[in-house]
Amino acid sequence: MAIYLDSALVSEAEIANKIGWVRGITTNPTLLSKSDLPPEIALKKLTALTSGPVFYQVMAHELADMLSEARKAREIIGEQTILKIPATSVGFQAVARLSSEIDCSVTAIYSAAQAVIASEAGANMAIAYVNRATRLLGDGIALVRDMASVLKNSKTEILAASIKSPQEAAAAIQAGANHLTLPLAMLQAMTIHEFSEITVEEFTQNGIGLN
Ligand code: E4P
Repeated sequence: MAIYLDSALVSEAEIANKIGWVRGITTNPTLLSKSDLPPEIALKKLTALTSGPVFYQVMAHELADMLSEARKAREIIGEQTILKIPATSVGFQAVARLSSEIDCSVTAIYSAAQAVIASEAGANMAIAYVNRATRLLGDGIALVRDMASVLKNSKTEILAASIKSPQEAAAAIQAGANHLTLPLAMLQAMTIHEFSEITVEEFTQNGIGLN
């Protein structure tokens, strides 16, 4: 399993880098628009802040434009590139053409059927939009479960995205997601439980150690 930072802010990537267990960074056009840096510069800085993958979401809609945008992203990010290609019929064609030269994920997946095609097209990852699916379809965790079922004999792994609480993150893994991507606040929230704090305080009050 890998847990990624879902952000394009260099300041957040610096914090995630220090955390030590965050394995890479996922971006999308909306996240890149929140940076005050041009996308090329932001992507270069993010890449320098992680030894793991940096996901870039292709924005073009026409096949030829998608291929050239994808290759441009690969030039900027280098070997750490994982493309995020939207789950559209043209997007799947782009994955089929690119997956032998650049690692591809398929993003904005809302059905098990799309996960099957992502796998057939050669994507390494299928990205489930968990909370959006709950809001739009009723049950984003069921979506992850269905995707895990159809991908059980596939090399395509499930990255759970659009996660809005630690409970939803854990439920997505329980339902079969292989990886998570989370905003910085959620990464931090995943580490905290009030009873852990209380328990540590009890040891501090009652115990002794090396110092
Ligand atoms: C992940 O790769 C996506 O960019 C992200 O999680 C989308 O989530 P949202 O529903 O918060 O936009």
